[in-house]
Amino acid sequence: MNDNLTLEEKSNQELWNRRISDHMKSWYDIDNFKKGDSSLDEIQIKEVGNVNGKHLLHLQCNIGIDTLSWARKGAIVTGIDFSPKAINIAKKLKKETNIDAQFVCSNIFDLKENINKKFDIVYTSQGVLGWLKDLSKWASIISHFLKPNGMFYIMEIHPFVNIFDYFAQEPIIVHSYFNSEKPVSYKENEKFKGYEWTWSLSDIVNSLIKENFTIKFLNEYDKIFGKTHSFMERTDKNWWHISGLKIPLMFTLKAIKQEKE
Ligand SMILES: C[S@@+](CC[C@H](N)C(=O)[O-])C[C@H]1O[C@@H](n2cnc3c(N)ncnc32)[C@H](O)[C@@H]1O
Repeated sequence: MNDNLTLEEKSNQELWNRRISDHMKSWYDIDNFKKGDSSLDEIQIKEVGNVNGKHLLHLQCNIGIDTLSWARKGAIVTGIDFSPKAINIAKKLKKETNIDAQFVCSNIFDLKENINKKFDIVYTSQGVLGWLKDLSKWASIISHFLKPNGMFYIMEIHPFVNIFDYFAQEPIIVHSYFNSEKPVSYKENEKFKGYEWTWSLSDIVNSLIKENFTIKFLNEYDKIFGKTHSFMERTDKNWWHISGLKIPLMFTLKAIKQEKE
């Protein structure tokens, strides 16, 4: 792990190190995962398709449960995250479940210095883009790690829902939909400060198009993988929604890396 972190990234790294144990309790069903369950939902499994024998790079993998779930489906996996605490737990889970995987602790923006390999699939999901200061660089890093005709897949919070107050009991607009260079900052537990950047749907899609990706699909859903806002309700095991309101809460996107002309 190198230390090329900006002040904001350093603060986010401390925040994520502190969050890990709560995140593990609230986000993942670790007991059932250890018994053999997958953390992957039916949409990702269908949209990503067959991963058997494919080399898969998972960006911002947190404690690696999704990474290890792709390995259970036959992928040869590498997970990366900049939280040393998260990566240590991922390595422990790998041992406990006897699944073959590689976990690397790295800032995504320093990844070229830390991994020397090309992949068939680059995958990332569920609460990732807000932590990233530069989407153009992000897209170029994805392109760098993919083999020609390799696939990028993302399942993410829809940018539209990020305009609402996270803690209010009903949807109240408090944030801009569009990117401003400065991140939004907030305090967690009085001690830890988080910084999040806003990216619109066009920022995300255009960052990939500029890197010569062909977009295979962009899907929008009125349900989401977790309770990102207080006013969301659970509909079943995997999904939350907003009762009586049909707005986009989540998107998925698949893109193929074309060779540069
Ligand atoms: C919401 S989690 C990722 C989603 C994952 N599927 C999960 O729910 O556990 C966000 C992750 O991004 C990581 N992260 C944030 N900024 C990063 C950066 N610049 N480089 C690498 N990882 C980063 C955090 O450490 C955290 O594990």
